[in-house]
Amino acid sequence: MKPQKYFVIDFDSTFTKVEAFDVLADISLQDHPDKENRKNEIITITNQGMDGSISFRESLEKRIALLQPNRIHLQKLTEILKGMVSESFKRNKDFFQEFSDNIYIISNGFHAFIDPVVTSFGIKPENIYANRFQFDEQGNVIGFDKTNPLSANNGKVEQLKQLNLPGDVYVIGDGYTDYEIKHAGLANKFFAFTENVEREKVLNKADHVTPSLDEFLYLNKLNTVISYPKNRIHVLLLENVHPVAVEMMRAEGFTVETYHAALTEEELCEKIKNVGVLGIRSKTQVTAKVLEHANKLMTIGAFCIGTNQIDLHAASKKGVAVFNAPFSNTRSVVELAIAEMIMLIRNIPDKSNKLHAGKWDKSASGSYEVRGKTLGLIGYGNIGAQLSVLAESLGMKVVYYDKEEKLALGNATKLNSLTTLLEISDIVSLHVDGRESNTNMISDKEFARMKQGVIFLNLSRGHVVDIDALKRNIESGKIAGCGVDVFPYEPVSNAEEFYSPLRGLPNTILTPHIGGSTLEAQENIGKFVPSKFLDYINNGSTSNSVNFPNLTLPTLENAHRLIHIHNNVPGILAKINNVLAAHGINIVGQYLKTTETIGYVITDINKEYNKDVIKELRAIEHTIKFRVLY
Ligand code: NAI
Repeated sequence: MKPQKYFVIDFDSTFTKVEAFDVLADISLQDHPDKENRKNEIITITNQGMDGSISFRESLEKRIALLQPNRIHLQKLTEILKGMVSESFKRNKDFFQEFSDNIYIISNGFHAFIDPVVTSFGIKPENIYANRFQFDEQGNVIGFDKTNPLSANNGKVEQLKQLNLPGDVYVIGDGYTDYEIKHAGLANKFFAFTENVEREKVLNKADHVTPSLDEFLYLNKLNTVISYPKNRIHVLLLENVHPVAVEMMRAEGFTVETYHAALTEEELCEKIKNVGVLGIRSKTQVTAKVLEHANKLMTIGAFCIGTNQIDLHAASKKGVAVFNAPFSNTRSVVELAIAEMIMLIRNIPDKSNKLHAGKWDKSASGSYEVRGKTLGLIGYGNIGAQLSVLAESLGMKVVYYDKEEKLALGNATKLNSLTTLLEISDIVSLHVDGRESNTNMISDKEFARMKQGVIFLNLSRGHVVDIDALKRNIESGKIAGCGVDVFPYEPVSNAEEFYSPLRGLPNTILTPHIGGSTLEAQENIGKFVPSKFLDYINNGSTSNSVNFPNLTLPTLENAHRLIHIHNNVPGILAKINNVLAAHGINIVGQYLKTTETIGYVITDINKEYNKDVIKELRAIEHTIKFRVLY
């Protein structure tokens, strides 16, 4: 018979992200006039206890005397600690329940705050070993039980001796005292837990360094929730993506590497070999050559709107799902459009320029309110539709023209002809996408249809407007005010000069493609793209993917999810099902969607599968990628 396995887990900085006494200091010394000095003194005493210049018990006594905690402080501490459980512990709650007989918490901390936190994970009260406070009648801590071995040096070793566990002992912890259990011959293996802190001295002594509990469970074949530890998935985030994205991916347990700049094709070919998730902005070119080297890559996120910088066809052929952030900056563009139409209809650019030049030009002539004016929106997608709502709330009449059938929001009126829109609008604003057929869709002919003195905005894409025609119509006075944020050619960096026929024209606002550039939009993008990565990796969902068939999948419980990506040829689904039938595996749910190039099949099964099934599924001809979730 195999020996039983016992798991000995440390509390401070392992089970929870923090050292409980640090948090306690913030609570109990909150209003203390000498708070900072006391906190520094506590740190000094902790270090003295660690380096042996005073005994552990003495350090505990001294620290408690400085902290002066009471029951109310400890209650507060417990509440805080409950919210500070290590992320990978939270993810793997099932492990604690399944192995509750064999999991021990052994800590030099105190029952008062450890028990409520760990028992909520299913850990048995009789398996928790820690110190006990002594209280006076008012609930103040006046000392601790000094007969407890955990209050003394070498306490964990003594405790383990007393426990005398009859099997293999695995210790998980971040501190040297955890290693000492192994050193004393009382544990088979010591796993240095580095999710919250890394201590050099401890790392050197470890049998394994485990950046998360996922890794520990994977190494020991104990994982019930996650099929592959996230820390083994390398996330490469380039071009200074928003820190919130880095945080989100780290919190999920991925190994994240960041770069400020873009990488060249050559650099990326080398780097990508090891990468599972790639995040870029607009400057990194993900070419077919780069993708050839990307053997572990599951997904690419463009932390922007456009995906021209990615060879989408090559990504699909490689089974790599690509995501972007199509509406994270919608609101920013809309606000700028509103601001510009008000500025332009009041002639502000000219008036401001004159005043800068010392010319006082106070007059109401040619200045209007936007209220009651007709706003014509060409393109009623994310931006057009949102602008429609805001413009109406300013009292404008909104009409729109879109090639596709789009639901009119509020009181907006859908028009079936672009010509009508041009003829009746006081302000024309372009919000079409950049498809090639839209090149120069607004030129002399279209301007001719517009009202005399129209306000014209283009915050969509540069090539959709014939710039020379626009210039002619501004100069002729047909267009009374114009706002342009996007240009057929845009400088590649801030160092390059901007040349355009539109420079110097009257009542014309030119902005350097910043419609969507706000800090809020950056943060939205920073959150949106990782949420797509996580949906895809954790659940297989591909909603909003730009190159994969879009599937939104239910979260699975008590089942396994098989994810199969293949070249879109007939008969693959049947082959998958034949393999499963041959192994007597019942399908509880199945989803298939295809694009021209690839097929995406999700199969949920409720039975344990063996390695042969996986091998056979992988071996199906035309398989591009295969992975198992849960
Ligand atoms: P979207 O794809 O949601 O909407 C575009 C709409 O235009 C669609 O409803 C489409 O059917 C329609 N459309 C395309 N061609 C048309 C045509 N010839 N006639 C009538 N309708 C047509 O795109 P979204 O998010 O609303 O963005 C709109 C534009 O704004 C895009 O070109 C995008 O690149 C640009 N943009 C500019 C930013 C900036 O910083 N200035 C920031 C974000 C987006």
